[in-house]
Amino acid sequence: MKINSAEFVISNSDVSKCPKEKLPEYAFIGRSNVGKSSLINMLTSRKSLAKTSGRPGKTQLINHFVINKAWFLVDLPGYGYARVSKSAKKIFQKFITSYFSKRIQLVCAFILVDCRHEPQKIDLEFMQWLGENQIPFAIVFTKADKLSKNKLPIQINSYIEEMLKYWEEMPKYFITSSTSGLGKDELLNYIAEINNELKNS
Ligand code: GTP
Ligand code: MG
Repeated sequence: MKINSAEFVISNSDVSKCPKEKLPEYAFIGRSNVGKSSLINMLTSRKSLAKTSGRPGKTQLINHFVINKAWFLVDLPGYGYARVSKSAKKIFQKFITSYFSKRIQLVCAFILVDCRHEPQKIDLEFMQWLGENQIPFAIVFTKADKLSKNKLPIQINSYIEEMLKYWEEMPKYFITSSTSGLGKDELLNYIAEINNELKNS
């Protein structure tokens, strides 16, 4: 899929104030610093559409971007960010949970996980919660450039093995790098496929 336009629409912490348009929507979620905002920039080939930072906790709101005037990409704050206060964490969690449970336009959540790490409890719990709430999701392994060609498949396979302890089958997954562009076409084609299915249904 070709990206002809990518525009920031609105930031907020209240799901009821998210855009009213009934466009298909794809949200990026995962731990802080995993590379959610960077992936949005990589997919749209825009250097700083979404704000990124080396320090975790950069994205603090629900950010909507409209792509090709036809669908939304949503950048969310990271969950499990340890350095904010407990009360701030609770507020984050509340609006993230309410975003996922109330946003009917959401057609797929992308759970980003750092390909160097073994499955983290918080990610597994969140996937479980999405499953229970029948919210479709796919896994996106990020920062693939940080592993050697040999190490990458070993690491992915061990993640899959661990996932199969909890899931009957491995959810759809993508291997990406925001620095090299790895996985860009696969992810965009996947989104295009879903958009087409929705258009024809
Ligand atoms: P929060 O908004 O704080 O939750 O973080 P985030 O998940 O949006 O992460 P962000 O995109 O801001 O990236 C965090 C750091 O990781 C930045 O320093 C990025 O440059 C770096 N980074 C993100 N993706 C990649 C990648 O694919 N490869 C490499 N090498 N670095 C990456
Ligand atoms: Mg971010």
